[in-house]
Amino acid sequence: MTSPNFIDLPPLLTAHGTITLPGSKSISNRVLLLAALSEGTTEVRDVLLSDDTERMLDALRILGVGVEQLDTHVFRVQGCGGNFPVKDAELFLGNAGTAFRPLTAALALSGGHYKLSGVARMHERPIGDLVDALRALGADIRYLGNAGFPPLEIFPAKPVGDTVQVRGDVSSQFLTGLLMALPLTGQTVKVEVVGELISKPYIEITLAMMARFGVRVERREWQSFVVFGGQRYRSPGTVYVEGDASSASYFLAAGAIGGGPLRIEGVGSDSIQGDVRFADALALMGAQIEQGPNWMEARAPADGRLKAIDLDCNHIPDAAMTLAVAALFADGTTTLRNIASWRVKETDRIAAMATELRKVGATVGEGADFIRITPPQTPSNSPLSGGEQSGSSPDKGRLGGVGFPSILNPAAGIDTYDDHRMAMCFSLAAFGAEGMRINDPGCVAKTFPDYFAAFARVTQAVPVIAIDGPSASGKGTVAQRVAAKLGYHFLDSGALYRLLGLAAAQHGIALDAESQLADLAARIGIRFEGENIWLDGALVGDELRTEQSGAAASKVAALPRVRAALLDRQHAFRRAPGLVADGRDMASVVFPDAALKIFLTASAGARAERRYKQLKEKGMDANIAALLQDIQARDERDTQRSAAPLQQAPDAILLDTTALSIDEVVQDIEQAVQEVLARYPAKCFTS
Ligand code: DC
Repeated sequence: MTSPNFIDLPPLLTAHGTITLPGSKSISNRVLLLAALSEGTTEVRDVLLSDDTERMLDALRILGVGVEQLDTHVFRVQGCGGNFPVKDAELFLGNAGTAFRPLTAALALSGGHYKLSGVARMHERPIGDLVDALRALGADIRYLGNAGFPPLEIFPAKPVGDTVQVRGDVSSQFLTGLLMALPLTGQTVKVEVVGELISKPYIEITLAMMARFGVRVERREWQSFVVFGGQRYRSPGTVYVEGDASSASYFLAAGAIGGGPLRIEGVGSDSIQGDVRFADALALMGAQIEQGPNWMEARAPADGRLKAIDLDCNHIPDAAMTLAVAALFADGTTTLRNIASWRVKETDRIAAMATELRKVGATVGEGADFIRITPPQTPSNSPLSGGEQSGSSPDKGRLGGVGFPSILNPAAGIDTYDDHRMAMCFSLAAFGAEGMRINDPGCVAKTFPDYFAAFARVTQAVPVIAIDGPSASGKGTVAQRVAAKLGYHFLDSGALYRLLGLAAAQHGIALDAESQLADLAARIGIRFEGENIWLDGALVGDELRTEQSGAAASKVAALPRVRAALLDRQHAFRRAPGLVADGRDMASVVFPDAALKIFLTASAGARAERRYKQLKEKGMDANIAALLQDIQARDERDTQRSAAPLQQAPDAILLDTTALSIDEVVQDIEQAVQEVLARYPAKCFTS
């Protein structure tokens, strides 16, 4: 369920499948340019579609490079061997730094006449250091606006220099642009870095990409780089743009917690990004990791337990956040060290992580540069759901079995501090007992706009079988039997409304006093155990099943605020290994993502007869004509009310039971259930 301010993730049971990560922006633009400068045709796959890459693709097309989009993220680039066909062009590059800097360098050394401009903000971003370096090589570049800033005009260069200096402490993109363009000179050039080189991992990416296109750069420490003459870029054929390795961490962790196998395509053993070493950390926790050049796959540990670790995480600062949440599922206390940089990221990530992990019941210690996480120690029943369970073990089939995070106040949710990684990390906590509410989920757009949709595609929620239908359609009996056969939990949602009617009578609250009833619905103590039901600690008897109780329930159930107040309480019944829920709006409102939706019905006459028999069997007074009238009145109210009216969900299977016995109905449903469950991984159903 999504609203602008939060997303409710259902409790998750398993994770398996394959996910293709969105490509990295900086790798996309590097590869597109190198493909254009190469000899031969390159197929570039998994290209990120974003403003910056659009600018690069447009520019290449204007320069006469053949660029063909073969599929959404797949482009075929016809390389021009360093010689752009169009020798005179004007390029508008928006605000794309990853296009402007390397294109400036490449065009300055390519023998044409070009004008490069961008949006106003682009014209405020310095480029003087790069221009100076290129001029030292013989480039002829003029400023069309302020000196040191775009827009620029470029004339054919007269290569002269063989040594050039560039500053390393402003933007590593200057060095990247220069290095990528140097093979165009045909001669040996040495680049000396002035000042401390920042963002070294990005230079590593540049060198790795150049090597992929056949050009070797000799790196002398981080102080100078030599590009030897006579090297030309050659197409390697097909290049996969790597996915964001930090984003991969959430899916690897999901595979480790939710069983797997969960395969990530887009990063693998050939990766040039530092964060791929997250996989090693997860393996230390016991996860089974396999990888190929362009993929990784995670499964739960062979013994079903994630191990707590004590790890220096300096080499994987971003991905280490994912370990902090995975630690909720480990068998002891996990310590992540040397993470001082967390304090100065999008938010103070140590403080934020500690606060939110405590919300799900973990014990958390923190220091200037470490965080220590001890998971909740017992399978938790949250105070809000207060033992509403129907007895059987709540977490069978799930990894671990130590303690499961269970948010102490589900309605408050997890706060994300405008930090995409907080939001993505805590999606993993939905493998706990109750699912997770994540506030401000839109913050993931920074690196992964459709993260939650992708996450939903490879995770399987605790299955719900929703059985709706009118009064006396037999759904209660059927649902109970199906639940027993599957070993699932059972929710008789009508009983909640009946209990509220009863509580209202006890408290002297009128059946139309909406706000008082809604308050009461949120606070009454409700407990189900087998056949027995308790209201505020007292065992409720047959009075819950009387026609009077049904009529009262039907009245309170028509009030929207009452229904809203009971929603979270109903969701709390969704626990591993699964739930069978019966009522009126199980499929349409409460569990719209139910794995199977059944709508049971029968003629009013047949239902009146069934009810008559039931009451007689219990030794209660009954009159068939009055029962028929009651049923018709209740049908009318339940179907006509505006809040969650009784209706068949469009994706529900209709089953008319007028001429069927209970056994026949159960059999029919069982068959449908088996077909649905066959789509779930086996792990869901082993105890
Ligand atoms: O299923 P039941 O007869 O115990 O339900 C009693 C009343 O509660 C029914 O008349 C309508 C209401 N109800 C509802 O509105 N939504 C549900 N999910 C379940 C019951």
